[in-house]
Amino acid sequence: MTSSEIRQHFLDFFRSKNHLIVQSAPLVAKNDPTLMFNNSGMAQFKDFFLGNGTPPAKRVADTQKCLRVSGKHNDLEDVGFDTYHHTMFEMLGNWSFGDYFKKEAITWAWELLTDIYKLPKDRLYVSVFEGDTKDNVPFDQEAWDLWKPIVGEDRIILGNKKDNFWEMGDTGPCGPCSEIHVDLRPQSEVNLKPGKELVNADHPQVVEIWNLVFMQFNRKADGSLDPLPARHVDTGMGFERLCMAIQGKMSNYDTDVFTHTIKVIEELSGITYTGSQREYPDVAMRVIADHIRAVSFAIADGLVPSNARAGYVIRRILRRAVRYGYSYLGFTEPFLTKLVPTLALQFADVFPELNAQRDFVATVIREEEAAFLRTLENGLKLLDKITVDLEKTGKTVIDGETVFELNDTFGFPVDLTALIAREKGFSIDESGFQKSLQLQKERSRKDASSATGDWTELHDIDGVEFLGYDQTEAEARIAKYRKVQNKQGTQYQIVLDRTPFYAESGGQIGDTGVLELQSGDQIAVIHIADTKKENDLIIHISNDKNLEELLDGHAPVLAKIDSARRIAIEDNHSATHLLHAALREVLGKHVGQKGSYVGPDALRFDFSHFTKVTDAELAEVERIVNEKIRENIPLNERRNVPIDEARKLGAMALFGEKYGDFVRVITFDPNYSVELCGGTHVPATGQIGLFKFTSEGSVSTGVRRIEAVTAEKALALLNEQQATLDQLKELLKAPKDVVKAVQSLLDERSQLQKKIDALESEKLQQVKTGLLTKVQSSNGHSVIVERVEVPSADALKQLAYDLKAKIDNLALVLGSDINGKPQLAVMLPDNLIKDKNLHAGNLVKELAKEIRGGGGGQPFFATAGGTDANGLDRALEKGREILG
Ligand code: ALA
Repeated sequence: MTSSEIRQHFLDFFRSKNHLIVQSAPLVAKNDPTLMFNNSGMAQFKDFFLGNGTPPAKRVADTQKCLRVSGKHNDLEDVGFDTYHHTMFEMLGNWSFGDYFKKEAITWAWELLTDIYKLPKDRLYVSVFEGDTKDNVPFDQEAWDLWKPIVGEDRIILGNKKDNFWEMGDTGPCGPCSEIHVDLRPQSEVNLKPGKELVNADHPQVVEIWNLVFMQFNRKADGSLDPLPARHVDTGMGFERLCMAIQGKMSNYDTDVFTHTIKVIEELSGITYTGSQREYPDVAMRVIADHIRAVSFAIADGLVPSNARAGYVIRRILRRAVRYGYSYLGFTEPFLTKLVPTLALQFADVFPELNAQRDFVATVIREEEAAFLRTLENGLKLLDKITVDLEKTGKTVIDGETVFELNDTFGFPVDLTALIAREKGFSIDESGFQKSLQLQKERSRKDASSATGDWTELHDIDGVEFLGYDQTEAEARIAKYRKVQNKQGTQYQIVLDRTPFYAESGGQIGDTGVLELQSGDQIAVIHIADTKKENDLIIHISNDKNLEELLDGHAPVLAKIDSARRIAIEDNHSATHLLHAALREVLGKHVGQKGSYVGPDALRFDFSHFTKVTDAELAEVERIVNEKIRENIPLNERRNVPIDEARKLGAMALFGEKYGDFVRVITFDPNYSVELCGGTHVPATGQIGLFKFTSEGSVSTGVRRIEAVTAEKALALLNEQQATLDQLKELLKAPKDVVKAVQSLLDERSQLQKKIDALESEKLQQVKTGLLTKVQSSNGHSVIVERVEVPSADALKQLAYDLKAKIDNLALVLGSDINGKPQLAVMLPDNLIKDKNLHAGNLVKELAKEIRGGGGGQPFFATAGGTDANGLDRALEKGREILG
């Protein structure tokens, strides 16, 4: 069975059990402060378990792109060294939202594995939760009773909280689980040791393939467990491991999920993959085959490698791959980029986003690789220097912090540093390194977490109703609130059952405004400084103090947004759509949105395009957008459009966004701009008034950024420019043609400069002639010590050299007050340098003391500048004494 068939059978099986098949969410988690990447199939459904939203169906199944490289689940450092861990992997999952529970989950899992996939029953083991007294959760008798008739008691293993109680993160939905493990060892080994003894023992051929989680609790911030409103099923099967089991392979990398990529790596490197567990070229090939998937799909889902948060994680994964390729496969030029087409093609049917952006992804990877290869060379040089320096001190151990820095900044894994160190006769301080690593982990954990208190629940709600497309104010009830401690101090986060406040998303900034509520016989006002999303919750954020009493009062609130601010935001949001369409018209259809900011003050639009947008192209884009504004195109807003229909309308969707089965479509002229969008917009484009660019530049490889303003801000910008122009006209006394006036000013300036230059050189000539008459001779050399008038330090130097050319054996000290700044120049003949051991640099330093300055130069010529022009004559006097 090919991997594609295996995936398809899974989806078909659960479709036949009345499951709705949904799309994978993007790799990058959005609107979830507890998660950077989707790390399991259930992450996108978290809200449904918590009762914060309604699932599209009670039974759902899919294959989800997952990334386990940060937070609670992190496998990065294992990848490559073993044959069954990955950064990105596919998780096949089936879910019940308050529908079926353990019985169906267990029976169906067994049916699929043994009847459809035909895995041998005597090679399967299952585990059941043994219970935990601290959490007060009992032994999972129900699961045991269900498994017993299926697999027999001797194939059931009891597991503790670590292995058999599944939690997505530090907080959130969780519950006991039953894992299914498969023993893939050859029969001869099985005869020697039963597989049961190897379950959960990190054996590469006795691995967990499927985890059936029975969601029953919500782990709160204080560590306690709350029962969930309903019981659910969340299952996750490792697709790559399943392929290994079904295809009878000993390693995930021997399945057709990876062999295509490994083949290209072999061709590019000229090295054959042998599948060995510890040989470095093999490790490197596995690292590369794994990491290229994570990096490519993350970029296809809208992430670009960067130095911040998720972008940095991707950068580190990419660097790890480059480093392994460089060290063990001899790749000194970008090579990862060449793997993208194979990967894109392989996944075109299931995850088409990569194939659709193949060139963009390949370019971003190529540039990132090239930059890192340069860094890598520098890192190697640094390591060289470190060992040379150590050698001098007689030490033989590279300290932990340095090893850590090499790892963190240059992507040098510890083993590589150790290897190179060993080759040079050094060792590394491994425990010091671990300490630094631990410190960094704690730092990043702290960065990621904010001290969030548990919710105080006031009213049960079944999701939040958003009214902001139609209303700017509404009556609502407070559903719950919590206090959050962060850098700015204490904030209150408030959830209403319904609200006109738009929560920041899709680039559009969150609304501000007030919540008014009755308090005694007064109206109290809670100021809302921002509105954010957390999964499907709309969270109103207030920085006001001591709100508990008010919030606990259960009074209904009147929620009012700042409408003027919202209108300015809408102007910018609709203008962004017009801009997007105009860019595609002028630059080409490869332009895709890569990010945006839509605020009341301005808009920012990032998009894929490889060269600078020329002034002419910008002018054309701006012209089109303004034309569309003048056409006053009415907004056509359609809610709940089936996604397939929206796509047929040609709606532009963003890669890396999660869309449900029903979407909102924003159209300004069906032939011009049709986008999937959840934001708020102008009723007709005329309201935007005016659109003006303020900047165009590059954000990262292949991504350009345009900034612009609209409406009043655009007018203000033009007014400001007009005011500057008026001032110039006035100054130049040129009411009509200011450009001509400036041009003639410049012409005049260059004429005058020429005249000045001529006069100065004439004057210099005179000074020179004058000096020639002042030559004195002393002990076989000619001496000039004089104060002169010259326009610049350069002219003084020129003068000294001219005189040297005319007078043999010249000993010269010249001083000049150049616009209040005293300057000295000293020139010495060879005989004084050789016979008297004089040095012009030392001499000028000595003389410069008189003008409170310093200088230096060569033995025969040196200059100095000072701050006290009054000392110039004294300096010259001193010079005369020494040379005369
Ligand atoms: N959510 C469960 C896991 O990731 C199925 O293992």
